[in-house]
Parts: sequence; C-alpha cells; structure tokens
Amino acid sequence: MQTSDRQSPAVPRHIAIVMDGNGRWARARHLPRPEGHRRGVGATREIIGTCLERGVEVLTLFAFSSENWRRPASEVSTLMDLFFSALRRERDKLHEQGVRMRFIGDRSAFSDNLRAEMERSEEHTRDNRRMTLVIAANYGGRWDIEQAARSYAEASLAAGGIAPVEAGVSALEPYLATAGLVEPDLFIRTGGERRLSNFLLWQLAYTELYFTDTLWPDFDAAALGEAIADFGRRQRRFGLTGEQVEADDA
Ligand code: IPE
Ligand code: IPE
Ligand code: MG
Repeated sequence: MQTSDRQSPAVPRHIAIVMDGNGRWARARHLPRPEGHRRGVGATREIIGTCLERGVEVLTLFAFSSENWRRPASEVSTLMDLFFSALRRERDKLHEQGVRMRFIGDRSAFSDNLRAEMERSEEHTRDNRRMTLVIAANYGGRWDIEQAARSYAEASLAAGGIAPVEAGVSALEPYLATAGLVEPDLFIRTGGERRLSNFLLWQLAYTELYFTDTLWPDFDAAALGEAIADFGRRQRRFGLTGEQVEADDA
C-alpha cells in the first residue's frame, strides 16, 4: 500500500485524465496547433502540482493514444519533441516532490532516445511514495487488454495448465499495464467530447465520469477543484442500493 497525505475521503485516490482540446485552444487564437500543445504542457504542470497538494495518490494522464500516430507527421513530431523536453525538464523537480513516474503503453514505437529517457525517469523515481504519476503514451485500452491476455496465456503455458489466480482478483488484473495501482475513482475529459477514445477501458468499469467543455490549456487548479467537488457529491454504489451504502457509511 502506498502512503498518502489524503485529507478527505472526498478526494479521489486515483484521477485519470484525457487532456483534450489543445488544437482547438490554438485555433481559437489563430495560433498554430503546436502552440496549443505547448500551453497544454503548462496546464499539465499545474494539475500535477494541485494533485500533490490535494493528496491524490495516483494521477494518470493520457499523453498520446495509439491512434494519434494517424495525425500529420509534423504534429506527431512536435508532440514527441515536447514529450521528450518536458520529461528532461521536469524529472528532477518531480523527483524532489516525491513523485514516482510510470509509463504505460507500447514503447516499441518510440525513438531510442525517448525510450531511454522514459526508463531513466522510472528508474530515478522508483522509490518515491508521495504520488504516482502514470503517463499513458502510445497507449490504447484494447492494446492493454490484449497484451494482458497474451501474458496470461504465456503464464498458463509455462505453468502447463491454467496459471493460478489470486482469490478475489481477475485473472487479467496482474498483467494489465496498471497492475498494482488502485483503480481510477475519477475520470476527467476536457475539451467537450463525451467519449473514452480507447483510454483505460478495463480500469474505468466503476469510475465516476466527469466531462467539461474547458479546453486543456485552460484547465487549472480551480477547474480541477470543481471536478473533485462534483466527485464528492456522488454516491458510488458498486451495484448496491443507495440504502445499503448509507447504512455502510453510518
Ligand atoms: C489533445 O489535444 C492532445 C493530444 C491528443 C496529444 P488535441 O490535439 O486532440 O486537441 P483538439 O481535440 O484538436 O482540440
Ligand atoms: C484522446 O484525444 C487522446 C489524448 C488526449 C492523448 P483525441 O483528440 O486523440 O481523441 P479523439 O480523436 O477526438 O477521439
Ligand atoms: Mg482532441
């Protein structure tokens, strides 16, 4: 179990965010799309800091989807450059703040430089316990379920039958990219679209969903505060009746 300086049970332990709307933010200002992405990095920094202050244990950010390779090559290359430079610039500060970094997604498509930087960041911060920052890069929810199923099948082959499963845990759980992390309590998508876009398909089964029209570069501490306050007003029932949940809480 990770330690946490969580102040209130109304604060989600794990927040997962689809950071969307950089392009439209730039377009509205007659700026090139890369400028939107650059401003998006600033918002990311602010949201990481706010999550640290609020005692969030895990923050998962969707940085690049397995479908984003379909964008124009120049945009993909801008995104890779920004990703690389942000990692280099922020890693030491994140480490000082007690942040453990973890990347999920298929790394094989990235350049050697970027892969090495990702590994260095994970290695450097692996013992930190204040907050885990999960960056989903070349991630897709279907990819995750498929790779977990493949690993489980391999473990079963190696075991000469069906690989043993821990009681109360799904067989795939230990093989998912997010293994060992608490499931997301709150999902946030900025930018106005109401869709998952192949983010954490398995892990979001019981997550509270929050959609806002605010574009990612404008999403600040106050906007995150509103999302957390909204989360605090929800009753999570996990299949129970409202009365059962109230009796449990009393
Ligand atoms: C999100 O912003 C950033 C990534 C997908 C990497 P977009 O670039 O999708 O912004 P919009 O949706 O075009 O406004
Ligand atoms: C989802 O945003 C991926 C990230 C934020 C990294 P997209 O902008 O790629 O999603 P779609 O294409 O609108 O569904
Ligand atoms: Mg988008």
